Amino acid sequence: MAFTLRRSSSFLSKYGQQVRFFSLHKLSEEHILLQKMCRDFAETELKPIAADLDKHKKFPIEQIQKMGDLGLMSINVSEKYGGAGQDYLSLALAVEEISRGCGGTGVTVSVHNCLYAKLVDVFGTEAQKEQFLRPFTKGTIGCFALSEPGAGSDVGAMSTTAKKDGDFYILNGTKSWVTSGSYGKAAVIFATVDRSLKHKGITAFLVPIPIPGLSLGREEDKMGIRASSTCNIILEDVRIPVENLLGTVGGGFKIAMAQLDGARVGIAAQALGIAQAALECAISYANQRQAFGQPIIKLQAIKIKLAEMATRLEAARLMVWRSAVAKDTETRSTKESSMGKLLASETATFVTHQCIQILGGMGYVTDMPAERHYRDARITEIYGGISDIQKLVIGDLVNKEYGY
Ligand code: CAA
Repeated sequence: MAFTLRRSSSFLSKYGQQVRFFSLHKLSEEHILLQKMCRDFAETELKPIAADLDKHKKFPIEQIQKMGDLGLMSINVSEKYGGAGQDYLSLALAVEEISRGCGGTGVTVSVHNCLYAKLVDVFGTEAQKEQFLRPFTKGTIGCFALSEPGAGSDVGAMSTTAKKDGDFYILNGTKSWVTSGSYGKAAVIFATVDRSLKHKGITAFLVPIPIPGLSLGREEDKMGIRASSTCNIILEDVRIPVENLLGTVGGGFKIAMAQLDGARVGIAAQALGIAQAALECAISYANQRQAFGQPIIKLQAIKIKLAEMATRLEAARLMVWRSAVAKDTETRSTKESSMGKLLASETATFVTHQCIQILGGMGYVTDMPAERHYRDARITEIYGGISDIQKLVIGDLVNKEYGY
């Protein structure tokens, strides 16, 4: 009897998950409204300036403020602390639409939402949320400082230290690739209390910015997502009160990993938006460009390319939506998040590459957005965990899932 019950409940939960997954194909009215609002915002506020932001490496501070007013800088943060109280699917829909307008702005929104605001919402104490979350829900930006010059994929090799000194921790080290580093008014900074403990020594701290001893490195001159800010954060004897410790001593690695499961939904959604923009660019061009006495859309070679682009993109979108729902409903959604991020980022590289092929020479110059989409897409295979790391994670999990 017990066996039957176990079998049937696991069958039901598996089947229930499939039903939810397929029902995602029909978004709820709320999701559709949010999607439309973000699409309209991106069309009017981001698309017209995206090339200029990219060319001059401009950070769209005014647009971020407007998105803050619309609730887009705290999409799935609890309403109790000033957030919009939506789910990860809402986050994915919003980030895709914003990234369709401007890939660089997409990452700013994604990282602030997933790796700062939601992280503090999930792991902060009441007092920490009043200080570090509520004021960050309407356009004031927070950062996530995990990587280091010598510790990117291998988070456990981190060398930034946190030494206890009475009621303070003293932080020393350099954090690298910090998204929005030059604009953040606070950061979740990871440091180790004991390097010999590897990942078990890593601890998370809430650090207000500015603060004595914290300085910023130069802005990175990036290949793509040039409308976003990326720099090092240098810590020299930065004194952080013990009450700013997030979670537990040594609990920082798991906080980072759990939150990266959500952030990978955000990065994957950014990849979808960039790919969608490239697909639309290719279709529009193919309808206008004449060759062999007709618009090139009439050529089978072009239709075949568009079919591959659109099909891969739609498959990636379903996987990303599924990973978003899993993040909200499953205890652990690591496999789904890694699969979604892997698939969406590689799809973005494929679709933007094919877009340039369809545009030919016009795809290679800045008169058209195709080359920008290609440059913007490339990073989605790198940050949030490079594709090979996603494959390692997925490989380990399927090995466990199938019983070895
Ligand atoms: N959720 C909760 N716990 C997790 C977890 C998860 N997703 N993943 C691992 N853990 C736990 C494990 O269960 C294990 O727990 P125990 O010690 O209790 O057994 C512990 O954490 C250690 O796990 P691993 O042994 O798997 O750790 P590892 O040292 O082998 O590292 C890794 C695993 C997957 C390679 C990890 O280091 C990783 O994800 N690296 C990539 C880092 C990354 O994505 N960086 C992106 C930076 S942020 C960014 O780019 C944002 C931006 O600005 C765009």
